[in-house]
Amino acid sequence: TGVPSPHTSFSAGPRGLVVAAPAKLNLYLEVLGKRPDGFHELETLMVGLNLYDTLEVRPRADGEFHLTCDDPTLSTGPDNLVVKAATHLRLRAGNPSLGTDLHLTKRIPTQAGLAGGSSDAAAALLALNRVWGLNLSRAALALVAADVGSDVAFFLSLPAGWCTGRGEHVAPEPPGTGFPVVLVLPPVGLSTPAVFRQLHVPASPRSGDPVRAAFRAGDATALGAALFNRLEEPAFALAPEVERVYRRLAALNPVGCLMSGSGSAVFAVCRDPHDAARVAAGVRAAAPPDEPPSHVLVARTLTPDPA
Ligand code: C5P
Repeated sequence: TGVPSPHTSFSAGPRGLVVAAPAKLNLYLEVLGKRPDGFHELETLMVGLNLYDTLEVRPRADGEFHLTCDDPTLSTGPDNLVVKAATHLRLRAGNPSLGTDLHLTKRIPTQAGLAGGSSDAAAALLALNRVWGLNLSRAALALVAADVGSDVAFFLSLPAGWCTGRGEHVAPEPPGTGFPVVLVLPPVGLSTPAVFRQLHVPASPRSGDPVRAAFRAGDATALGAALFNRLEEPAFALAPEVERVYRRLAALNPVGCLMSGSGSAVFAVCRDPHDAARVAAGVRAAAPPDEPPSHVLVARTLTPDPA
């Protein structure tokens, strides 16, 4: 009933209600087919990450939406997913006088496959549901989320979910534990539609059963072996530098490594924080001096009871 999970903590700030919007990783992504509407039928295991944007929300009574953002390269117009979310939620509420001031602080890199924009949109739905006093249920918000983007509904079901359809059908997937991950952000971003255009739909899709079992059991070794992303091949074809970063990470023998979503971020799953520090130092040291540097950071996948 519109109550946020512990992952979507609300607090009061000088600009209004403050909501934290986490990034996600795909630990598995298979494509089952292309649909008549142009989207692809997917099976994907998504998990939240302790890397957050912040959205600040204050209601207005004049029907206006004003979004500001600390990243000047990001659009703050109707194409921003936060504004799109506000627009769709107001339509659902049926009250044209609902308005809001929104301020977004970006920490999640864009064009990285980490769904920062989708998470910001989900944070807007949860926050506006509260400040507009709508009291819509989680299920009702998920329907609005699906109209905003394929990845938005996932962020209403943190910390992890098995997502199907376009990605908008989410079954909560309880994690056995949290895993430390080393996230490597190549100096190039990737466009999701461009990656999907480059994709060859497989004749016989894989089964996601092994990855789900490993994730539920909290078994790092089995999870590392079961990581898979069908979008790696088309993404690597579009951006060879992403494949080079992936190979440098894999050469350090973490329990597993993968590209997230449609890229360009790649990540290593690590046994423990000590192993993550080793992998992070190794991948920084392995970067050739004549290449634009990748950004490397250590994070942790979210669990039902976040620290
Ligand atoms: O739903 P969203 O706006 O995030 O999708 C962005 C683009 O990614 C779509 O326009 C489509 O090209 C591609 N996509 C897809 N199949 C999906 C999800 C996204 O082809 N299941």
